[in-house]
Amino acid sequence: MRYLSTALLALIVVLVLISSKPEKEIYNELYRPQYHFTPIKNWHNDPNGLVYYNGEYHMFYQHNPKGNEWGFMHWGHTISSDLIHWEHFPIALYPDENSEDKVDCTAYSGSAIVDEKNLLGKQTGNEKTLVAFYTSQNCGQRIAYSTDKGRNWDKFEGNPIIPLNEKDDARDPKVMWHEPTQKWVMVLFRKTSEDDKTKGVSFYTSENLIDWEWKSHIHGFYECPDLVKLQVTNRPDEFKWILFDGDGSYFMGNFDGETFTPESAKLKSDFGKNYYATQTWSNIPKEDGRTIQIAWMKDGKFPEMPFNGQMTFPSELSVTKFNFGYKLVRKPISEIEKLHGKDYSWKKEVIFPGLSNNNLIKKVKGDCLHIIGEFDLKTVENFGLMLRHSKKKAGTEILYNVKRGTVSVLGNTVPLMPIDNKIKLEILLDRTSIEIYANDGQTVISNCFTPEEGLEGVELFSNGGELEVIKMDIFEMKSIWRD
Ligand code: FRU
Repeated sequence: MRYLSTALLALIVVLVLISSKPEKEIYNELYRPQYHFTPIKNWHNDPNGLVYYNGEYHMFYQHNPKGNEWGFMHWGHTISSDLIHWEHFPIALYPDENSEDKVDCTAYSGSAIVDEKNLLGKQTGNEKTLVAFYTSQNCGQRIAYSTDKGRNWDKFEGNPIIPLNEKDDARDPKVMWHEPTQKWVMVLFRKTSEDDKTKGVSFYTSENLIDWEWKSHIHGFYECPDLVKLQVTNRPDEFKWILFDGDGSYFMGNFDGETFTPESAKLKSDFGKNYYATQTWSNIPKEDGRTIQIAWMKDGKFPEMPFNGQMTFPSELSVTKFNFGYKLVRKPISEIEKLHGKDYSWKKEVIFPGLSNNNLIKKVKGDCLHIIGEFDLKTVENFGLMLRHSKKKAGTEILYNVKRGTVSVLGNTVPLMPIDNKIKLEILLDRTSIEIYANDGQTVISNCFTPEEGLEGVELFSNGGELEVIKMDIFEMKSIWRD
């Protein structure tokens, strides 16, 4: 008996020790991204309800608290004061009507705004009400609100604000303020008939956030739309509207508050395999003025991890007028510098062919690096970087092919033309992702990968001729969880 109770006590001590595993250890797992957001455990997909309020960036996300696969959607919640370091908060939105179903009445994607004018009439003290718009799957478009800076959420008693239409498959409301018409605008994915060809984005307007009027529809879109207005860089009076599709592709055009008129073909904003369900933050202060986007890195693999999913690194959007026309440009937010650790730097180095005997960057090792390089192509035929490799294992290659004018990585081959015979590559390497921003964010490729354990080497290689490294910096990256 005594032996039994000692064994029981020992077991309890062990269990307590396991369950109180320090955060530092939890966030050091083999496939745990070190500077990209992941929930502590369980499944996540789309970012939802991105809103800035009172010094805090809120990010909600599609979350299954029951396991590591999609289903039973709730809104997980995290808050950051710098868009880099994230603190976990309790689940914000639960399924409606006490649904225990995998799908029905669960809290699908949506957005959030600050109710500055107290249109919902819920404000109690000085804090403005935060209002979330979400799809209650098969139960209509709905509202939830918080009167305490997003800490607690209530469902609006007048739900649904747009009732279910069984034929239109509507979801993912993104709400924004349209200054010229002084109205709220909702962009909503839906079909206008049972025909799948009518899948697209419907535009609705409202004066009170509760009653919504359908205005127009544009075909050829699928899930998670977003609409943003961007000033053309260095042209204070010129603006372009961008209508994003779920996979980050977009139309550039004009929006009059009711109808979107495309001025471009549908263009890709990311050439990788894992950029999905993009969303931009609402209510970013005017003094800041940036448009900041984040996306879910769909289809990433995280073998044997307690979590399943990761977000991209947040990026800043802008539009630039080039001699060939207007283009969306995307760059990692400048706050990335906060994470810089040890810096390795090179200037004006000429590289000659040969992979392993002549590796300029051989002193660098790591699984979390920020690499910024500018290269003069001189007479080189191709060049690139080998990431996460060792003497015995090849690792993951990023290759620029001069003749073809393409950059290749992880099965993507993407056009990338030199500018004045120069190529710029900015690479964000984390434990399970590689994001490449080429030529100052004109071309972006976001991919997940699952490298083997223990490979930490990086190489710069070239073939066929001379390559000049005009300037190159490699920063070791700090962990947002552990450092
Ligand atoms: C996109 C999406 C959304 C939907 C959500 C459900 O990934 O399918 O359309 O609201 O995920 O989790």
